[in-house]
Amino acid sequence: FEFDTLIINGKIATASECFNGDIAIKDGKIFAIAPDLKSLKAKSVIDAEGAYVTPGGVDGHTHIDQENTPGAKDYAYRGCDGFESGSRSSIAGGTTTFLAFAMQHKHRRDHTLSDVIAHYHDLATGNSYCDYGFHLIITDPTPERLAEFPKLIPDFGISSVKLYMTYDSLKLNDYEILHTISTARKVGITPMIHAENVDIIAFFSEELEKLDLLDPYSHARSRPALAEHEATNRAIVLSEVMNVPILLVHVSSPGSVQRIRKAQGKGLPIYAETCPQYLLLTDSRLQHPNYEGAKCVCSPPLRPSKEDLDGLWNGCRNGTFTIISSDHCPFRMDSDIGKAVAIKDSGKPGGDWRLIPNGIPGIETRMPLIFTFGVCTGRLSIERFVQLTSTNTAKLYGLYPKKGSIIPGADADLVIWYPQDKYKPTVLTNEMLHHDCDYTAFEGLEMLNWPRFTILRGQVVWDADKGEVTGTKGYGEFVSREPSWFAKNQILFDNITQTAWKNEWRPEFDRPSFK
Ligand code: URP
Ligand code: ZN
Ligand code: ZN
Ligand code: ZN
Repeated sequence: FEFDTLIINGKIATASECFNGDIAIKDGKIFAIAPDLKSLKAKSVIDAEGAYVTPGGVDGHTHIDQENTPGAKDYAYRGCDGFESGSRSSIAGGTTTFLAFAMQHKHRRDHTLSDVIAHYHDLATGNSYCDYGFHLIITDPTPERLAEFPKLIPDFGISSVKLYMTYDSLKLNDYEILHTISTARKVGITPMIHAENVDIIAFFSEELEKLDLLDPYSHARSRPALAEHEATNRAIVLSEVMNVPILLVHVSSPGSVQRIRKAQGKGLPIYAETCPQYLLLTDSRLQHPNYEGAKCVCSPPLRPSKEDLDGLWNGCRNGTFTIISSDHCPFRMDSDIGKAVAIKDSGKPGGDWRLIPNGIPGIETRMPLIFTFGVCTGRLSIERFVQLTSTNTAKLYGLYPKKGSIIPGADADLVIWYPQDKYKPTVLTNEMLHHDCDYTAFEGLEMLNWPRFTILRGQVVWDADKGEVTGTKGYGEFVSREPSWFAKNQILFDNITQTAWKNEWRPEFDRPSFK
């Protein structure tokens, strides 16, 4: 019996423990984990030299080849990374699976959800270096479209939908959200909510326009933290009233973290995501004298202070945050569409944020940044790092234990890091990255580690010593997902405790008879 690959001398880190050991891989799956497998025969042997071996990253939030990626004024922008460049960048940064958005267009009532999904499969099939799945963005929850929800998991392997509370071309009102999440609940779909108060943003935007304050920094002023706090609170209430587990995406402010933690403390099934940009960058990045600030325009915006960053790191440490995703949403500075529009066409001295597409790239830098600024600084244990970047994402979105785990039978998706004493601290530059974007917002940060090898289903797809992507385009597969592991447990809990929205929907008093 010959194994395909042996990984020896690893410090194997999972979501719950860290131990020295070897891993044997056969047919793309983890076959055995033991203290010493060095006597086994294998076609290839990789010596981890005592470095951490973690599950491959799972990025729960990426905009890849997405039509009409939301922009400040609802222009139809398309990001610069398709499945080829986006997935190439992903594996070079240790992420072996990402979830991208398949977006329903509000103005295309003739398109069924099946049509939307088929369209994104066309874009992805044969083009990806890593595994991927889809979330659906629901912008027009008509009864016909909601009637398609029961087939999303069995027929399409899609178990999550994203709903927006803001952006005129995407937003749902509370009534529409209630309909959508109650339908989602019945079929085990997890709603993800972009929580910002659309009217607060509209009001502030108009005031800023009157004052001709249109530079990139004013974009952040148009979307104050309170707009996020209010919408976060409202999303929690809507979730509670329907007893639906939800995930709050890209949480940027400690005020939201406090509201989420309070809800979790009451036992509500509220999950939350943050992103490296909100943990590492402040809105001083938007205050450049030239147009550089456009690079960091995203929604919700970067927040003002070190206290904001600290509050988010706290939320990562204490478990309020379930996952850290990239929100990879890349636009080039130098192209006709994209960030550069604001520079070239606005005629305004600081550019015009209303024309700047929202979002920053980050699929490749997510894992190394959180390893560097989380694990290496001691802010996060290695186990918490694995939870936030891989295992919890797999559990939350119905990919576990195939993805996000190092156990026999799981996909052999692994990252082998550098032994700390073998990695020379490196200043991050965009030239190091593999996306099609012409900048990174994290330029100049000093990295203290990087994935040395990324392994996807047993194949080495990234080899940092060679400095190259060794995987092949088209090797990446669509992964069909099940209901959220977290939500499943919540529903089980409800069935046992009999709390499941009975009080709201089926009052237990005897109804008067109207015969
Ligand atoms: O600015 C951002 N984050 N753009 C992407 C769209 C979104 O809402 O995630
Ligand atoms: Zn369209
Ligand atoms: Zn969003
Ligand atoms: Zn996003």
